[in-house]
Amino acid sequence: MDELHETALALVAEGKGILAADESDGTIKKRFDSIDVESTEENRRAYRELLFSTEGVEEFISGVILYDETIRQTAADGTPFPRLLESKGVIPGIKVDKGAKPLANSDGETISEGLDGLRARLEEYRGLGARFAKWRATYTISGDLPSEYAIWTNAHALARYAALCQEAGIVPIVEPEVLMDGSHSIERSFHVTSRVLGAVFTELFDQKVRLEGTLLKPNMVLSGYDGDNRGSVDDVSEWTLKCFRRHVPAAVPGIVFLSGGQSDEDATAHLNAMNQRGPHPWQLSFSYGRALQAPALKAWGGKTENVEAAQKAYYRRAKLNSAARSGGYAPEMEREAVPA
Ligand code: 13P
Repeated sequence: MDELHETALALVAEGKGILAADESDGTIKKRFDSIDVESTEENRRAYRELLFSTEGVEEFISGVILYDETIRQTAADGTPFPRLLESKGVIPGIKVDKGAKPLANSDGETISEGLDGLRARLEEYRGLGARFAKWRATYTISGDLPSEYAIWTNAHALARYAALCQEAGIVPIVEPEVLMDGSHSIERSFHVTSRVLGAVFTELFDQKVRLEGTLLKPNMVLSGYDGDNRGSVDDVSEWTLKCFRRHVPAAVPGIVFLSGGQSDEDATAHLNAMNQRGPHPWQLSFSYGRALQAPALKAWGGKTENVEAAQKAYYRRAKLNSAARSGGYAPEMEREAVPA
């Protein structure tokens, strides 16, 4: 348990957060489509190498979540990616859920799969260098949904995953993501996120998961992306903190938010506003995919000659999010040059 607790604390160390680079085959293809690059194994490898070898970014990045293909790949010089990360003091992690699939007998809701055979997969991933893992469950807000059925089945699966991780000496990142598609109000987002977190922590407790060796990766409480009168940065920070204070035990070392389709600047501003209202019982940090990678992906465009520009863009986002860890970010910094 001491090791799990230490790893969890290291992942939310001061000024640091996590890079989510664990896009599944389908998701990375979507990202590459947006820059007109073919999703071949070599292109995926080259893109991930660009991110992982960015010089100096380890000042802001504590861990990287990898995908099954990525944890087995190597840098151009033959160094396995987990070794490359470890050599910079960055902790390798692994996505282990097998995606959200239709939930039987539900009204179009989903359940994340991947529990069968998970004990053996975790053992293998630990051998490959993983010290933490991620399992994502998703919930859609629409009409009366999400249902209690979807909320509790996903919470149960998240806790089964978390218990198996801890048995294997791997810190589970528990990711219940309430999606922000739709036109719902911020209050609705608050109520749904509250119900989801209530179920998740009940299941974690019932399944004897030790919270000190766990991290939570949730959505922020936002207005639906298509709604009118969307909440301001202050509203988001107030509703999100109110929700988490009520539902996340202080034994959890850190909350590492996902960006979930927010613009990169919004994701940074929201995290910053929450940290300005600290101190909090837990570290408030980031585990961003899109919000850390979007400018880098665009700058790269699949071309070797753009690697340096892409690394600069990634470094810059990492640095700004690091500033948001202590409430030290200001939107004006977006326009200043960040020396890499
Ligand atoms: P986003 O920050 O792009 O939402 O990705 C984080 C993640 O890992 C989602 O599972």
